[in-house]
Amino acid sequence: MNDIPRIYKNGHGFSLQVDGKPYIILASETHNSACTSREYMREVWAKAVALHCNTLLAPVYWELFEPQENDFDFSLIQQLIKDARTNHMKLILLWFGGWKNGYSTYTPGWVKTNPSRFPRVQTEQGISTRTLSMFDSSLLSAEQKAFTKMMELLKAEDGCHKTVIAVQVENELGILGATRDFSPGAGKAFSSTVPLQLIKYLQQTHNTFALSYDEPQNTHVDWGSVFGIKADEIFMCWHYAQHINSLVLCGKEIYPLPMFTNVWLKEFDDDKPGSYPCGGPVPDMLDIWKCGAPALDIIAPDIYSFEFEKAAKSYTRYDNPLFIPETRRDRWAVPNLYTAIGTYHALCYSPFGAESIGEDHSYITQLIHTDPNDTNVSSPIIYRYLAKSYQLFQNMTPIIAACYGTDKMKGFSQTSDNRSKRILFGKYRIDIEFYHPVAESRYIPGAGVVIDVRENELLFIGYGYRATVETLTVGKQLDFLSLEKGHYDSKCSWHKSMSLNGDEQCVRMEEEPTILRAVWYEF
Ligand code: DGJ
Repeated sequence: MNDIPRIYKNGHGFSLQVDGKPYIILASETHNSACTSREYMREVWAKAVALHCNTLLAPVYWELFEPQENDFDFSLIQQLIKDARTNHMKLILLWFGGWKNGYSTYTPGWVKTNPSRFPRVQTEQGISTRTLSMFDSSLLSAEQKAFTKMMELLKAEDGCHKTVIAVQVENELGILGATRDFSPGAGKAFSSTVPLQLIKYLQQTHNTFALSYDEPQNTHVDWGSVFGIKADEIFMCWHYAQHINSLVLCGKEIYPLPMFTNVWLKEFDDDKPGSYPCGGPVPDMLDIWKCGAPALDIIAPDIYSFEFEKAAKSYTRYDNPLFIPETRRDRWAVPNLYTAIGTYHALCYSPFGAESIGEDHSYITQLIHTDPNDTNVSSPIIYRYLAKSYQLFQNMTPIIAACYGTDKMKGFSQTSDNRSKRILFGKYRIDIEFYHPVAESRYIPGAGVVIDVRENELLFIGYGYRATVETLTVGKQLDFLSLEKGHYDSKCSWHKSMSLNGDEQCVRMEEEPTILRAVWYEF
């Protein structure tokens, strides 16, 4: 029996172990409805294999898993696991349960049509929404039963093979169109006492939300009086986090796979709650979630923003590794990969819409995507760059994983029309010059990762740039001892294809993802 996948603290970061070895999830997520059809999935598997993914992220639909109460259908999950094994791939299952993108569209019909057992979120005006409420509701107990069943199934079907390596709990939850749930049950909870545990946690982590809190004489402090204008959002975050925590706890009791929840991010910091799903773990709500859902391993951002690095940074914390279950599949999918792995030591990178990567049209409607700012726009060149990068990173996993949690690796990518970048890295000063302006849309913006392999040896990975390297050691200069072009095979052995000297002795990457290995001496 293989070891169960696990995430562990490593240096100043985190690492993931799968089958007893370091693992970096180089993946893609299917479209939402893909896994309802095995025939459709054939194409998805073929594309994911050709993309050199090692993992596929695929939904499980509560409505199809438990179409009648207590009557479970295991077939879709069993097929997924079987097909993943045939394709030599790992799986991450996405539990589309009580909430998906702010709504409750994946709950079974017997839940949707029974409002007395499963009441809905109400707006301030008392209007019922398409989102199920957590208050005065049987939702948690019903969902726990189904989620536990799924974890029992995974343990029975996959406890030996470990094809499934993690589970996402819900999908981009929160309330759209209101700042909180105003149903009668929610109102009661909102005027009840804020858990002291939350206030203490916020004080210990120096979170500004609790700064104005003075321990009162009487012990009843409601949400509004502690958190003021942030109260609605913090209240929703706390209750969602507690709901998820309960699911995770009962799931892990059966089969303790790593579990995470994903986030619909705000577009701008000052966006109003409700324009994004309010109650989800957006950056300023992370402490509330960390306190409310301690059993959850990771809070994982879906990064579609053009400010990729800003988002990546806010989810890379002492208590959270970067894990990106969804991201763009357009030309930014490639450079962002290098930043995610090289700088933020991401445990997972996964452009959304596996079957659409490299395609300019929708797989479901056949509609052609034309807006260059649309995350859906992809092309064969994006597919090729991503596939080459995935293959290259996969073969190098032992080397890259050894850098996680250390300062031996740095990623960089082109983000604006500024074509040069200076990196201070250990004893080196590296000046990067990208070949093409970002505005030239037929090129993929340049990107790379540099690794400090050992004294005076650097590995350059990536494409579309040249690098000039100087030593910061006072009174010393660098000169090449050797410069090799080559690749790592699937056993992580280096194969030199060329020794570069004379006219070619400079770190000048190709247009497409490659590796250069440079050995210097100081004099
Ligand atoms: C984010 C959601 O989490 C996904 O399930 C999917 O709906 C994508 N958006 C579509 O871009």
